[in-house]
Amino acid sequence: MIFPNAVVSTDCHIGDHSVINSGATISHDSLIGGYATINPGVHVAGNVSIGEGCYLGVGSSVIHGVSIGAWTVIGGGAVVPQDLPENVIAVGVPARVIKTKEEGLNERTTSRTGE
Ligand SMILES: CC(C)(COP(=O)(O)OP(=O)(O)OC[C@H]1O[C@@H](n2cnc3c(N)ncnc32)[C@H](O)[C@@H]1OP(=O)(O)O)[C@@H](O)C(=O)NCCC(=O)NCCS
Repeated sequence: MIFPNAVVSTDCHIGDHSVINSGATISHDSLIGGYATINPGVHVAGNVSIGEGCYLGVGSSVIHGVSIGAWTVIGGGAVVPQDLPENVIAVGVPARVIKTKEEGLNERTTSRTGE
């Protein structure tokens, strides 16, 4: 589902069951895996690969050419300048891994908006 006011540029692929929320931008040649949540105001640059099930927190940015592994969570406001593995949680500017998904999230964190 691509919300109004989201922008998806040329030659992108958005996987099934993903949400691209309002104000998000996905630049050219980027891949968004299935079941991903791209929250409001996220900026994904060109030639980026976002794995299946990833959750990009509100206002986060992913820099050109970066790959993020499946089911990884990016905190709100983070800037991701380099590749991240699957199943981790990363926050901050520049984004750093703070824990793995196995270590768990607090309950406020990853509700899907707009559904
Ligand atoms: C990244 C996130 C998933 C982390 O959740 P969590 O694993 O439960 O993390 P915690 O709340 O236990 O915080 C762990 C540490 O990371 C820090 N942290 C958490 N989120 C952060 C963020 N977005 N930016 C910077 N630091 C963050 C906390 O301050 C804490 O630091 P400390 O250990 O020094 O005290 C969550 O904070 C987040 O940003 N969720 C996105 C919310 C969002 O976009 N919602 C959609 C609204 S439309």
